[in-house]
Amino acid sequence: MLTEPLFSIPASEGRETVTIIFDDQAVTAPAGISVAAALLVAGASDFRTSIVGHEPRAPYCMMGVCFECLVEIDGVPARQSCLVPVKDGMIVRRQQGAVSLPDSEIGDGR
Ligand code: FES
Repeated sequence: MLTEPLFSIPASEGRETVTIIFDDQAVTAPAGISVAAALLVAGASDFRTSIVGHEPRAPYCMMGVCFECLVEIDGVPARQSCLVPVKDGMIVRRQQGAVSLPDSEIGDGR
């Protein structure tokens, strides 16, 4: 759900924009900014839910340290949205709790 944005980016005439899809809603953003910045400007208030307690989480550091901004981008889970630049047509989804690993990624303990 998108709400009233807490952030804004000054309008710049002639600046290229891209459109991404966030949980089935179109979000237009200036080219070159991060996915996290684009979603914050669009009013996204939660990007994922915590593994324990399923509490809503949102970006905190905006520089790749806290991992609070994890989302699924183009089908790839656990992407740090503050480090990924927006690209036109990108599909972004909130990440719900823990990511399941495919069986091939789970060792047998040896
Ligand atoms: S906001 Fe902290 S890692 Fe992305």
